[in-house]
Amino acid sequence: MTTPVHVTVTGAAGQIGYQLLFRIASGQLLGPDTPVVLRLLEIEPAMKALEGVVMELDDCAFPLLSGIEYTSDLATAFSGTSWSLLVGSIPRKAGMERGDLLSVNGGIFQPQGRAIAENAASDVRVLVVGNPCNTNCLIARSHAPEVPADRWFAMTRLDQNRAETQIAKKVGTGVAGVKNLAIWGNHSATQFPDFANATVDGRPVPAAVADDEWLRTSFITTVQKRGAAIIEARGASSAASAANAAIDTVVSLRTATPADDCVSVSVTSHGEYGVPEGLTFGFPITADGQGGWRVKEGFAVDEFAAERIKITTDELLAERDEVRALGLI
Ligand code: NAD
Ligand code: LMR
Repeated sequence: MTTPVHVTVTGAAGQIGYQLLFRIASGQLLGPDTPVVLRLLEIEPAMKALEGVVMELDDCAFPLLSGIEYTSDLATAFSGTSWSLLVGSIPRKAGMERGDLLSVNGGIFQPQGRAIAENAASDVRVLVVGNPCNTNCLIARSHAPEVPADRWFAMTRLDQNRAETQIAKKVGTGVAGVKNLAIWGNHSATQFPDFANATVDGRPVPAAVADDEWLRTSFITTVQKRGAAIIEARGASSAASAANAAIDTVVSLRTATPADDCVSVSVTSHGEYGVPEGLTFGFPITADGQGGWRVKEGFAVDEFAAERIKITTDELLAERDEVRALGLI
């Protein structure tokens, strides 16, 4: 048996936590040969609920689950962790944009970044899910300069999955046929789901869809506003699909990306495609299967795409200014 890998989930008693923990414990995050220790963080008022979740995890008798620590103490939660899934934070309500949560949630990520730097394993990787996830990731990273910039991720995979499904439905094919679909920028209503570089069943999406008007309008807005549509319909933000996207993100980062595909995830910009350095920005990336990844080169950026990438870049710059003004970075 290999040594167990410690995985931290914050906000573990929340909606997404409840959809995520059982999948991690059953081996869907790190594979069927890797035992895990779950390190679960919650705030004090939620500890009782978390105790119930832990009882249920015990009652599943997962063979790969070799330990559970649950706590409200940051050092314990991040001790020896190799994967930190930062979910805990407040979701938005109907009528809000995700950026409206910055002043509410931003303060959570400062101490968590520090605690990761001080307590995590040397190979730690961090995926921020709590909104606004790009800028929360920037906050946490800026308080953990010891952890290399290429270990910090914010989740735009749910947007990729949403976009793939919209295209597959429009063409009348399966989602497995949709490849190379990049989400550029912020996990927000300004994100740009890039149809032009994507393929479906080996053909460029614009040719397969044959409806440019749809691609340039309702396709984009459906993906941009899908989170709000779910809140409107369900009265609560997406949870099962968000947990699924978190699993997809980690699995994709651990697995070599096929040459005809990419993974959409927000990472630290080093100026790729002209994006300002230091932003946590949604890019198409490829993983090498050994823990490394790089921003995929060669995506065509026409005038239409450049305009949209600028809009989402400007929003992330404004969020960075806001958290600077709040003293969070
Ligand atoms: P939820 O309210 O059901 O659960 C959040 C949990 O976080 C609660 O149990 C709460 O007690 C806990 N929490 C709050 N502050 C904490 C702290 N300082 N430390 C640890 N835990 C803390 O919310 P949810 O539906 O699970 O959503 C969680 C977050 O994920 C929200 O910000 C939501 O907007 C975001 N989200 C992001 C995506 C994405 O694609 N990036 C998708 C869905 C939801
Ligand atoms: C989503 O995309 O479903 C989440 O970010 C929740 C939200 O507030 O939209």
